[in-house]
Amino acid sequence: MLTFLFLALLAHAQLVIPTSSQPNSIVILAGQSNMSGRGGVINNIWDGVVPPECRPNPKILRLTSTLTWVPATEPLHKDIDNYVTVGVGPGMAFANSVVARDPSLGVVGLVPCAIGGTAIGQWSRGSFLYSQLVRRASAAVQGGGKIKAMLWYQGEADTASSEDAELYKGRLEKFFGDVRSDLNSPMLPIIQVALASGQGLNIEKVREAQLGLNLPNVKCVDAKGLQLEPDYVHLTTQAQVQLGKMLADSFLHT
Ligand SMILES: *[C@@H]1O[C@H](CO)[C@@H](O)[C@H](O)[C@H]1NC(C)=O
Repeated sequence: MLTFLFLALLAHAQLVIPTSSQPNSIVILAGQSNMSGRGGVINNIWDGVVPPECRPNPKILRLTSTLTWVPATEPLHKDIDNYVTVGVGPGMAFANSVVARDPSLGVVGLVPCAIGGTAIGQWSRGSFLYSQLVRRASAAVQGGGKIKAMLWYQGEADTASSEDAELYKGRLEKFFGDVRSDLNSPMLPIIQVALASGQGLNIEKVREAQLGLNLPNVKCVDAKGLQLEPDYVHLTTQAQVQLGKMLADSFLHT
């Protein structure tokens, strides 16, 4: 009888997925190339440099394109932002900083969703990018974890036309509202990054929208002053490390 009980318990225990393979705290990464990561990419080649702040950590997982959790390593968007060379973004520096400073987060699961060159209109409800984000975020919580935030870095693609820049604020608010409602998380913390400079003429209009967004639990960190790659289009690896820490500071104060 006792042996049977023991065996039954053992069989049951094996069905329980070990905690380290499922995250407790989930963070969505979305936007365009700076979120996806181009740090260390020069002439379409990534230099492979991973600063200490971006190294793998047993407490940081990444959701792959096939919706499985694996230990997170740079580049985080390697199987998501296809057709381009990806490098370092802010995600790993963010995650390493928050797991070190807030043990109550447990294992952090990053859900990369950013795609280079995308405008806000391409993220509207019903679009491919939007549906992919919701699908990935929904898959991410299947193991029992909770979505703690979405980090959003986008806007450059909307600086080229004055009409897009004008419409940016309304579109951004709508997007954030839709994501919160479809993830059943009406107060989901969102931290966005304000663009520092851009090729487009309407950068100030987009920055105004980003910095002036007045929604509860939406914060903005400013990328102004962070170093750009020689292409003047993307943040360097070191700048991404700084940005990851700024996002972490903001996240821990929500
Ligand atoms: C990347 O971020 C920098 C700093 O905010 C900005 O100047 C640049 O326009 C961004 N590039 C893209 C493609 O979003």
